[in-house]
Amino acid sequence: MREVIKIEGGHRLNGEVTVSGSKNATVALIPAAVLAGGPVTISGVPAIADVDSLSKILRILGCDVTEKDDHLIIDPANMKNTDLDADVITKLRASYYFMGALLGKYGYVRMKMPGGCYLGPRPIDLHIKGFEALGATVEYEKGCYTIQAEHLKGTKIFLDISSVGATINIMMAAVYAEGRTIIENAAKEPEIIDVATLLNNMGANIKGAGTNVITIEGVKQLQGCYHEIIPDRIEAGTFVIMAVACADEMRINNVIPKHIEALTSKLTEMGADLEIGIDSILVRRSEHMHAADVTTKPYPGFATDLQQPLTALLTQVEGISEVTDTIYTERFKHCLELQRMGANIELYNGKCEVKGPSKLYGDRVTATDLRCGAALVIAGLLAEGETEISDVYHIDRGYDNIDGKLRALGGVIRREKIDETLA
Ligand code: EPU
Repeated sequence: MREVIKIEGGHRLNGEVTVSGSKNATVALIPAAVLAGGPVTISGVPAIADVDSLSKILRILGCDVTEKDDHLIIDPANMKNTDLDADVITKLRASYYFMGALLGKYGYVRMKMPGGCYLGPRPIDLHIKGFEALGATVEYEKGCYTIQAEHLKGTKIFLDISSVGATINIMMAAVYAEGRTIIENAAKEPEIIDVATLLNNMGANIKGAGTNVITIEGVKQLQGCYHEIIPDRIEAGTFVIMAVACADEMRINNVIPKHIEALTSKLTEMGADLEIGIDSILVRRSEHMHAADVTTKPYPGFATDLQQPLTALLTQVEGISEVTDTIYTERFKHCLELQRMGANIELYNGKCEVKGPSKLYGDRVTATDLRCGAALVIAGLLAEGETEISDVYHIDRGYDNIDGKLRALGGVIRREKIDETLA
């Protein structure tokens, strides 16, 4: 049985939607919790498949995991440093955060290569460089990493690229290291601040998260704590784009507007009617949208994760827009699917050119990765006729109940299980 999402296009959205907790913070907060001595309660946990996968990994490690509403209580008191070679490791990218967390806690970790969306090559050399700088040895054999250190010692680490994953992983490996670790050219994404906040609440001594220099003074002990996750800026941005594309009036609640300023200013430049509140954004229909060029950059620049959803909107506006992704130069598979639906898009190396407006028609398309899935949902809402999106497990990895939220807004969207043996 495979699941598809079917969307009947052409229905305008109206009403309010509440954004869930940040996926990319949650997937780091969960591994970070194993560094504590006692129970860590994380609240605002999104109902997404990546959380289920990470909970499975926690259970493999012997952690006690309790799910209650949107709370996850992780008690690592009886955990054991088991080798992580189960298939679940390859279901997502963020399983690599167990490298930093287990190395930090035990000085040893053995795990499979992580998986995640294919967006072109996604090396983890900077994570490894950071672990080695802290005193670890790293071996890679038959698809498995073995990382160990008798003693982790604080040091200065300069990241050649300000990688989100490497910054968080090094931060986790360094919390128990002897002395001071300084990460220079650190990534500044809000998710990094969220992870540092959790670790500091547990008793760590981390300063500078959110800037490009992070200092970690090693501590001897970390305890359990309570932590509330920040809202998901990419889900928020996706709904803002959806609203601009096909809502009469729509309010997006539980947003930190500062986190998506690069998007909201781009949309305003394109002619969108946005009212930015303290923790919400109201979008009203605008008839006069026009093309704009966009280039993805590390935070606070335009997020690569919103490049794909934005492209779907760009097919509807007047003029030629150039979209350049400097983070993942191959993150353009969604364009091929949008072309099937009638979009006029030319692909170049690391960029695409969208000529609008084009009429979109419902078709059978594939969510080749998570944010491609979001782009196709937007295209499906705009298209004439029915759009059938397959490989929806990619969408479910990162969007909490996207179809339920859209139905509440007036979208005509449903899931169907398809029995392939009958096909
Ligand atoms: N890079 C290296 N070496 C490394 C690490 C990264 O060359 O060791 C390169 C990457 O190939 C990429 C750039 O550095 O070109 C930035 O990668 P980064 O490490 O920042 O990305 P990530 O940590 O693997 C996270 C998000 C992604 C998001 C990127 C960029 C998680 C679990 N994933 O990935 O989110 O696109 O940051 O903001 O936090 C998504 O949510 O759809 C998603 C893919």
